[in-house]
Amino acid sequence: MNAIKVNVKNVLATVSESQLKALEPCAAAAAEKLHSGTGAGNDFLGWLHLPSATDEALVADIEAAAARLRQSCEYVVCVGIGGSYLGAKAVIEALSNQFEAYKPATVGNPKILFAGQNIGEDYLYELQELLHGRQFGIIVISKSGTTTEPAIAFRLLKEQLEAEIGKAEAAKRIVAITDAQRGALRKLATAEGYTTFVIADNVGGRFSVLSPVGLLPIAVAGYDIRALLEGATKMEQDSASPVATYAIARNALYQAGKKIEILVNFNPKLHYLAEWWKQLYGESEGKEHKGIFPAAVDDTTDLHSMGQWIQEGERTIFETVITVGQQRHEVRIPTDADDLDGLNYIAGKRVDEVNRMATIGTILAHVDGGVPVLTIDLPALTEFWLGQLIYFFEKACGVSGYILDVNPFNQPGVEAYKRNMFALLCKPGYEEESKAIQARL
Ligand code: PA5
Repeated sequence: MNAIKVNVKNVLATVSESQLKALEPCAAAAAEKLHSGTGAGNDFLGWLHLPSATDEALVADIEAAAARLRQSCEYVVCVGIGGSYLGAKAVIEALSNQFEAYKPATVGNPKILFAGQNIGEDYLYELQELLHGRQFGIIVISKSGTTTEPAIAFRLLKEQLEAEIGKAEAAKRIVAITDAQRGALRKLATAEGYTTFVIADNVGGRFSVLSPVGLLPIAVAGYDIRALLEGATKMEQDSASPVATYAIARNALYQAGKKIEILVNFNPKLHYLAEWWKQLYGESEGKEHKGIFPAAVDDTTDLHSMGQWIQEGERTIFETVITVGQQRHEVRIPTDADDLDGLNYIAGKRVDEVNRMATIGTILAHVDGGVPVLTIDLPALTEFWLGQLIYFFEKACGVSGYILDVNPFNQPGVEAYKRNMFALLCKPGYEEESKAIQARL
């Protein structure tokens, strides 16, 4: 297989070929809006040509900054939340050894840790405890430069690093990725003399993984960002890409009453890719009381928890199953002379063959249970194919959002919790809101 393939065969019991065909002009108009910049949110379309427009100088600068951090650190903490966190986490997890965390951390091959993606006091305490006395660096990522969660984590880690190695040395181990001009982080980075990278004004957080936001952490983890960009560029320039097929199918299913999309993997390395996908689609489409609810399961693990619901629960769901063609390693099931566990009937088979039969068996069972299933076949988990998959999902999200008739590139709803939190914390400027919210408690 030398391309990502989308298969809609198993949705045809719910939506017909002609219903899918009927949405084709809509998808073409949506794609045209994206390319001509005539749709809602057109000031946030920088991601559309990010793969092909990323020049050699920027890639080389990112690689150089990554090499400096690798050469001086046992741990590099990426501080960020939402779109400033999930893309890098998804790619690094997909490419890493599953047990990387349990191997010793060494200068030259640092472990990548994440912070600022929650406000867990124990999380931050335990992170600081782990880093105490170790060689660590920080990549702090915030487009706005004002987000509370990463700001708290960065303040703590910066203070720790400066206390342990001195302010001047700490400044060499901190890289900031933020807006070119605005925000507290830009001001701080300039004042402290940190190496910085820019998040372009026209690239929103959840569409930023192929910018320095994702590329620097991925490079620090030791992965090939050129191959990632090459894969994404291939998808960007592929006139026969399956973007419209996916966008059409999910919208047709939504119109047929399937309000929840479950992204399914049969490979534990893809858990965070699903988390990234959930943010991409959830924040882009959940507006004006519309939008497919994005959920995810890791199979076969979750077949033993969510499997019952998916097989026989309310019929408002559809699944999108990502399959991975090739494993990195080969493990065969051994023959056992006594066969007390009764497994000799699959002795000699690869574990992946069992997984593939589980995948096919699950898809057919769910289809029989009234769950339409789309499949996305990925040839392998490599930088190149992940780059293709990322761009595929981003473009399909833009097309899908326009078919749904929402602005896929804003996130006004995210502000509501922040206003309440600031009012409760009595942030200066929130005096009226503070009074009003206290009255509700
Ligand atoms: O997609 C988005 O825009 C958001 O998820 C942001 O990435 C997230 O809120 C973090 O914002 P910032 O990078 O400004 O700290």
